[in-house]
Amino acid sequence: MSTMGSSLCAAALLAFLVFSLRLFVNNWHFRVDKEMFTNGTIEDGFVMERNGLVHELNERRKEILPFLISSGVKRLLDESGHFGQHQSFESNHLDINLENESDVSSGSIRMNKDHIGCDQLVDMKAVDILGSGYTKIVLKVVLSEGQSVALKTVYDQGTDMGRCLEDFKDPLGCHELVSFKLKKEIVLLQRLQHPNIIKLRGHCEDSVGAGGITAILEQGFPLQMIQLLQSPWEERFRVCLGLVRLLHYLSHSPLGSVALLDFQPRQFVMVSGELKLTDLDDASVTEPACQMDQDCILQFPLRNFSLPCSAQGVCEGLNEMRNLYNAYRYFFTYLLPHQAPPALRHLVDHIMNSTGELKGDVNDTLEAFEDMFHLYKSGLHLDNMPPSIIRDYAVMKGMSISGNMEYRCWPSYNHQGCMLSVHSDKEAAFICNSLPQCTSFSLSNQRTWTGRLLASFQSGFSHLVTDGNSEVYLKKTKALPGTTL
Ligand SMILES: Nc1ncnc2c1ncn2[C@@H]1O[C@H](COP(=O)(O)OP(=O)(O)O)[C@@H](O)[C@H]1O
Ligand SMILES: *[C@@H]1O[C@H](CO)[C@@H](O)[C@H](O)[C@H]1NC(C)=O
Ligand SMILES: *[C@@H]1O[C@H](CO)[C@@H](O)[C@H](O)[C@H]1NC(C)=O
Ligand SMILES: *[C@@H]1O[C@H](CO)[C@@H](O)[C@H](O)[C@H]1NC(C)=O
Ligand SMILES: *[C@@H]1O[C@H](CO)[C@@H](O)[C@H](O)[C@H]1NC(C)=O
Ligand SMILES: *[C@@H]1O[C@H](CO)[C@@H](O)[C@H](O)[C@H]1NC(C)=O
Ligand SMILES: [Mg+2]
Repeated sequence: MSTMGSSLCAAALLAFLVFSLRLFVNNWHFRVDKEMFTNGTIEDGFVMERNGLVHELNERRKEILPFLISSGVKRLLDESGHFGQHQSFESNHLDINLENESDVSSGSIRMNKDHIGCDQLVDMKAVDILGSGYTKIVLKVVLSEGQSVALKTVYDQGTDMGRCLEDFKDPLGCHELVSFKLKKEIVLLQRLQHPNIIKLRGHCEDSVGAGGITAILEQGFPLQMIQLLQSPWEERFRVCLGLVRLLHYLSHSPLGSVALLDFQPRQFVMVSGELKLTDLDDASVTEPACQMDQDCILQFPLRNFSLPCSAQGVCEGLNEMRNLYNAYRYFFTYLLPHQAPPALRHLVDHIMNSTGELKGDVNDTLEAFEDMFHLYKSGLHLDNMPPSIIRDYAVMKGMSISGNMEYRCWPSYNHQGCMLSVHSDKEAAFICNSLPQCTSFSLSNQRTWTGRLLASFQSGFSHLVTDGNSEVYLKKTKALPGTTL
């Protein structure tokens, strides 16, 4: 029953994938649906709908312009709102002007080995659907050289497209309208570059320019909050630190202070343990105008905040504070306090309080995070650990264990056993002492992202083997039943 269910599921997924891909290819070779315009009978309301759509299209176009002007690149969109005239899939002349111009102030020149041209997509293989939202769908594809990338396109079955079709009944116009969100995202990805923002590897636009556009992105994995909640504190801290570094960058970005209006975990992906922002179409750089402080209210379901209205008549810092509180309510509350190292708990509490009450700005928050990172990485928070603790253990260098009776602990770096990160053998000894069944542990040369060592804890093992990269620590006080030494 369940196997049938899952194979049905797989078949449905594949059918959908093929369908999406066909759409995707169609987008490249977009042909204007002539019937649409040559049909003699123009229905009632069509003109009004058309005008409404034209208005919307102009609004979207205007939304992108500030980002282009501030970069000194005006050619990126021509008057009709299309990316430069020569970026067609067929013409093989696809590099966006922005990337080709050496005078771009932000230094965002991407003509490097990471760049992927549209021609490299010709013999790609679609492997999977990575995700979709209201506006866009993301496919994992494998290029001919074997590297996999994520392709982001307009989601024709998405909510955004559906709503537009309901309002305007114009598939072509709606596709163009929704494509503006992806265009905005591409422009923002070019202007905003940071280790915690997904990397744009290239993009393609079809020759007709009716909106068929594809972003080529570094491939990540959708953020799985449940999975993250079950991972070691060190990994959860990494996500929070990355987020704070990102928010600090966004506050002082080349475009000004950027607010993420749709700030939710699903707008981020994980790339090798690092959090990266992928959905940028709802970013805003304008801060609201105001006459008095009451105009600068930041509203959340459970809290409202009031910010001062500046002398220039803008709610200065509102974007930054909005991001920071969202980071608190969507990330920090879930990821940070749980199982924090005891010696860092007061720092975590301070961060929770300062962000939860918006007492500090993003600079203060980053500083607090970096201080905590430094303490954790250098093991300074373990200063009061008795050095004698390691004397309870016999050390065997160049050895590892075999036939070990590992027991499970949580959260462990491996699923079968009990692998935890430690700063030193002393911290490992301290942990082993606190685990009731622990009789030994071994340290390998494997390290976590902070440089801490990975230690495996055991309740017993059958024999030792030589291993130049490992050390075994045996608890002296307990005899080990069944151990042959
Ligand atoms: N580079 C990527 N690698 C893997 N998955 C991605 C990538 N970019 C986006 N996704 C997934 O696709 C989903 C939809 O992308 P997103 O840009 O958020 O579209 P929308 O604007 O429709 O919300 C995301 O929620 C994420 O799970
Ligand atoms: C074209 O006109 C016919 C009636 O002559 C109508 O049934 C049809 O829906 C129209 N098609 C479009 C795309 O407007
Ligand atoms: C873009 O790069 C090509 C090749 O490097 C060069 O020939 C061309 O002049 C450049 N165009 C612009 C606008 O810089
Ligand atoms: C926030 O402000 C709104 C509008 O002023 C109000 O309706 C709401 O009750 C406030 N929420 C909280 C939690 O104070
Ligand atoms: C912050 O600390 C104050 C006083 O110590 C406390 O009343 C408040 O509930 C704390 N807020 C958060 C979000 O932890
Ligand atoms: C925050 O940090 C940025 C960059 O490090 C700096 O330019 C800015 O002046 C700082 N803001 C405040 C309020 O200290
Ligand atoms: Mg999204």
